[in-house]
Amino acid sequence: MEERPSTLSLHGRRSSLILRLSQDVPEIIYWGKRISAQTDATMLSLLSAQQQEIAGGARNPVPLSLTPTIGQGYMAHPGLAISTVSPNADSPYADYDAPSAWSLSPKIKRLVRHSETHHTIVCEDDHRQISLLHNINLDTATDVLTICTSIENRSNAAINVAWCAAATLPLPHHISHIMGFEGRWASEFHTHTLHQNSGAYVRENRRGRTSHDCFPGLILHHAHTHEAQGEAYGFHLGWSGNHRLMAEKNADGRPIVQMGELLLPGEIMLSPGASYNSPNLYASYSAAGFTKLSQQFHAHLRENILRPKIVEKPRPVHYNTWEAIYFDHDLDTLKTLANKAADIGVERFVLDDGWFPGRNNDRGGLGDWFVDAEKYPEGLQPLIQHVNDLGMSFGLWFEPEMVNPDSDLFRQHPDWILQTAHNPQTHFRHQTVLDLTRPEVTEYLFDRINSLLTTLNIEYIKWDMNRDLNHPGNALGNPAVHQQTRALYALLEKVRTAHPSVEIESCASGGGRADYGILAHTDRIWTSDNNDALERLKIQKGFSYFFPSELMGSHVGPRDCHITHRTLPMTLRAPVALFGHMGMEMDLRELTAEEETELKAMVSLYKTHRHFIHSGNLYRLDLNEANTSTGPSASIGFGIVSKDQSEALFSYSLLLSTTAAHPTYYRFAGLIPDACYELNIIWPLKGNGHWPKSSLFQLETNLPNIDGKVFTGEALMQLGFQLPVLTPQSNLIFHLSRCK
Ligand code: GLA
Repeated sequence: MEERPSTLSLHGRRSSLILRLSQDVPEIIYWGKRISAQTDATMLSLLSAQQQEIAGGARNPVPLSLTPTIGQGYMAHPGLAISTVSPNADSPYADYDAPSAWSLSPKIKRLVRHSETHHTIVCEDDHRQISLLHNINLDTATDVLTICTSIENRSNAAINVAWCAAATLPLPHHISHIMGFEGRWASEFHTHTLHQNSGAYVRENRRGRTSHDCFPGLILHHAHTHEAQGEAYGFHLGWSGNHRLMAEKNADGRPIVQMGELLLPGEIMLSPGASYNSPNLYASYSAAGFTKLSQQFHAHLRENILRPKIVEKPRPVHYNTWEAIYFDHDLDTLKTLANKAADIGVERFVLDDGWFPGRNNDRGGLGDWFVDAEKYPEGLQPLIQHVNDLGMSFGLWFEPEMVNPDSDLFRQHPDWILQTAHNPQTHFRHQTVLDLTRPEVTEYLFDRINSLLTTLNIEYIKWDMNRDLNHPGNALGNPAVHQQTRALYALLEKVRTAHPSVEIESCASGGGRADYGILAHTDRIWTSDNNDALERLKIQKGFSYFFPSELMGSHVGPRDCHITHRTLPMTLRAPVALFGHMGMEMDLRELTAEEETELKAMVSLYKTHRHFIHSGNLYRLDLNEANTSTGPSASIGFGIVSKDQSEALFSYSLLLSTTAAHPTYYRFAGLIPDACYELNIIWPLKGNGHWPKSSLFQLETNLPNIDGKVFTGEALMQLGFQLPVLTPQSNLIFHLSRCK
């Protein structure tokens, strides 16, 4: 249906987004808490109108459209940067005299209605023959806005697109703080918070994958917002290539967020008739703190992006071979590990890197996706059979986008890689990147993967990607991160279509490709290569702002962590893995009898509770527990409450000693205030010698006597319970079940 009303009102359950369409360009005039029917859009339009001429400024206000352009007179960072390249020499209009594209000023032509909350606003610049289409959808159930912009070249000249933001979204002036993400390999998803000053906070990622250091997410919020209270706006770009994120307070004081794909010089050339689609920007508003904001994003992923079939299926306990054997594959060892894994309760055995020829270290083999006949003289079948006989399914590691120069594939097709002419390749884990924009490359990769999936009982792919794209030029010598990313999505889709029951994990050195774009084609994320439980608590907290627990690959690592070289007890390692998609990744032969008992117990807790760990609502807690040297970060607390609020698991981890003699109160969240809950402390295991005790003094009874008692939801949430004095690196898990 096509129409042209003067305003467009989209309402979610808790938020509203109102646009003015009566002027030349689409402008957001309100985005925030849901407004009632009493408030009509005209009132908002009037209230948001500039009241007087700005002294020393433009006489009429310069609009802040969904895509502000230079042609509209916009003076901050434009939403679009394009230029005319050349007229099409074959066209009858070869001596093209239309105005150049750089000063585009598209005007609203029509509104296409797909549903109550999903519309396309079509804008056209009649002089330049270029259209901008804004696709905008506020999901009523989850309050997540999905917005993107397409540019259509209807002219007879080619145009270069240097920047086309998914959208430029204005924010209320009282939103003063920016939470951004930073990190590195094995230390991903750390956050920082800044006060927003005049000017721009800009984050750019040019790594050719989502990146470890610049996760494409931002949260803008009020100075006093915390987990349980206050206003917050979340933004995430669903894209696995390069990106630019910007939170800008314009010189005229208007705050905006703009996000889009970062395009390399000359990367997008639109010939006459061609178009470019920006990635989706996902955005949401919460009036009730960061936790609520995350719950909205989690629900949106679950309901609109992930495959329903996978969402409904229990996530099996994984065993991954990487940190147990690395490249040292030996059938008998693997069978022993499989036996141990099955005994502990593992349900899926994943054979990591090292199973293909020439892969005895990371210097060779990538690209030759055949089973190594030396390590596996009878192929993988005997191992898979053994694993299946033990009742476990089988998963296999691939890194399809890569090739080692020391491989048959590279020797046969040295030209199949991304490269920039006359520049030596930047060394990066002894591997280079295949040019997926060449159809023969993706045909080869599909053929190899398909043949293994067809002939062997493989139910899971760990799809890895272990380097940046430092030289992202294709065979034509053009920059190709955009096309490479699209080609990757197409290849994943082809594999999925041919093998719909196979699940795919997105792993880019752990945490390097975590975004909603890749999640439209994959089923879980390997969160980080760092299995150190203390590090993981922080990484997983950062991850949880935009991703729910079932997507978070979380493994119990070895006693001595291979990455941080820290030694941590099973009593801490196991509970940290419980709250994700649980697995283990260690040489199971190292387990002491006590560790094995604890690990088995944790696996069984996971199996009992995963139905709501993976579908319930996450609550991060503001424990505000002090350690004078590090500020309020001595502990991390969070919980998951089942959707019907009848059951919950809460976790408390003490990372550092606290400086207060009286430990803090642990205040639960998300319960029904007037319902009664039985509280049980289910971790550490009772009677296992690890029950928490003071490091200096034994309490008379070392069991806090709240265990097994019944409390109202409001008592647990308003007062909470005073934590026992614990030693650092301790963890407690509370189980709450509503009394019948
Ligand atoms: C990456 C992954 C690891 C492992 C190795 C194998 O680092 O993140 O989990 O699969 O590659 O080389």
